[in-house]
Amino acid sequence: MSGAGEALVAVHAAVHDDLEARWWRSAEALTALHLADAKVRWADFAAALARHAEREDADVLPPFFAAGEPPRGASREIMAGEHERLVALAGDTGRALGDVPDEGATRREAIDVLDQMLRVKHLLEHHGIREQELVYPRLEGLGDEVRARVLAALG
Ligand SMILES: [Fe+2]
Ligand SMILES: [Fe+2]
Repeated sequence: MSGAGEALVAVHAAVHDDLEARWWRSAEALTALHLADAKVRWADFAAALARHAEREDADVLPPFFAAGEPPRGASREIMAGEHERLVALAGDTGRALGDVPDEGATRREAIDVLDQMLRVKHLLEHHGIREQELVYPRLEGLGDEVRARVLAALG
């Protein structure tokens, strides 16, 4: 996926597409009332989300902030805050999902959890657009070393 010649924004978009696909697998299982499946798939989504946020914190945001004053809307506080909030919300949602029984769950219980899942999805979409528009385009001009480090973090 992450070819050396490919634009960083495209490689990063693919990572977020993959996260969204994992989100959908859990949501689809939940809405079919296949709770055990939905739980496993949510755990998979949440782990992938946490891993991506960690990799960005370690290898994407440091060179971005080192390059100078960040653009409006991409301050350290905003970027770190959104990562923290996403991981915390995904954890809360996993616990709410865990409280719904594997067998005999009602549609109402499923919809309650779906509502929480959607909050994570919407925040992730919003955060992804911020990164696509403000963070990754700037990384493109920071040289081969930064580019290689970012590509490795997205791999
Ligand atoms: Fe991020
Ligand atoms: Fe990202």
